[in-house]
Amino acid sequence: MNVPFGNMQVHYQAYKAQIDEAVARVLASGYYILGPELDKFEAEFAQFVGAKYVVGCASGTEAIYLALAAEDIGPGDEVLVVAHTAVPTISAISMTGATPVFVDIKASTYVMRETELESKITARTKMIVPVHIYGHMAEMEAIMKIAAKHKIKVMEDVAQATGATYRGAVAGSIGDYGAFSFYPSKNLGAFGDGGAVSTNSEEKFKKLKMLRNYGQSKRYYHDTLGINSRLDEIQCAILSAQLPYVHQWNEQRRQIAARYTEGLKDLVVTPVEVSGFKHVYHLYVIQTPDRDELQAYLLERGVQCLIHYPIPAHRQQAYQFLGYGEGSLPTTEHIVNRILSLPMFPEMTSEQVDQVIDGIKAFYAERGVTEGHVQTATSVFADGQTV
Ligand SMILES: Cc1ncc(COP(=O)(O)O)c(C=O)c1O
Repeated sequence: MNVPFGNMQVHYQAYKAQIDEAVARVLASGYYILGPELDKFEAEFAQFVGAKYVVGCASGTEAIYLALAAEDIGPGDEVLVVAHTAVPTISAISMTGATPVFVDIKASTYVMRETELESKITARTKMIVPVHIYGHMAEMEAIMKIAAKHKIKVMEDVAQATGATYRGAVAGSIGDYGAFSFYPSKNLGAFGDGGAVSTNSEEKFKKLKMLRNYGQSKRYYHDTLGINSRLDEIQCAILSAQLPYVHQWNEQRRQIAARYTEGLKDLVVTPVEVSGFKHVYHLYVIQTPDRDELQAYLLERGVQCLIHYPIPAHRQQAYQFLGYGEGSLPTTEHIVNRILSLPMFPEMTSEQVDQVIDGIKAFYAERGVTEGHVQTATSVFADGQTV
């Protein structure tokens, strides 16, 4: 049996009736852009997030861009962000002309190390962008305090964490903005590209609606510069049809994660869920010094694993101009050669989960390791920090 990393076909077959109905309804309606399905989905998603407003847009990348543009962030401004993220987080900052300033991550949850933030704040810093990577939220309370002290805005990158919570608050409801991606494999995915920005500010909500639609306040009246970044009616109808299932899917992800952790905790470093946080396991990422051999071994046995991400943003060719040399973000660089994302999607069967666990156990058994290996895999740094 093969265990793919994800499986959108299985997902579609499981929800075919609802999705087909949604698509057919829109096709028959004659409204394809900025119609009633968008209004409906934005209202439903705002309620899901616990934010006052949601503005749909064309992708997660543009959600980030639009929120930065809503704050008039541009050349000469600095945005604090992590390099351990999907590069689009950084591309969106660059699209505004602002400079991404990288902050290192924590070795436990891989999110922004908030204790390092203040040392990077300058008179030019306009926004902090914590990324809720893999489905575990950043330390929003501490980040919001620092931001308030320095009068800086905060945007949560929620692309990988739809439905995650921190002390009961849903991801995207705490910062000044939340940026969501509905890329198909996300915890709530469209059948194409899609994204959204959440905010509690009525003023910014109005501005975001203009920015995504050529800067128009009403048809042919352009009050501000803007782009074309709209969430189309078909995607909205599909997203509305799926939204009621997101909590259930996140629960299924959590159950798969619990089984992985139980089976693997003595062999590799398994994900951490800090008390008070709800991890939604967009990705289940282990750490091991034997990463490349393990990935190849599993692939030979039909188990597809991926690496998120093999090169951090500051070491990408496109960002060499920022001048971050090797060793400039020690934790980010340390984990990059050790992380491995195991197959994770809500429709995974019990047998598939077992096959992944058994494959990893077999790999270590062949090397005479049955337990204790995790000690050598645990991230301990020269400065003694482990989190
Ligand atoms: C953390 C993060 N930020 C931003 C994005 C960009 O989202 P999109 O692919 O919808 O543009 C993604 C998705 O790839 C992501 O994982």
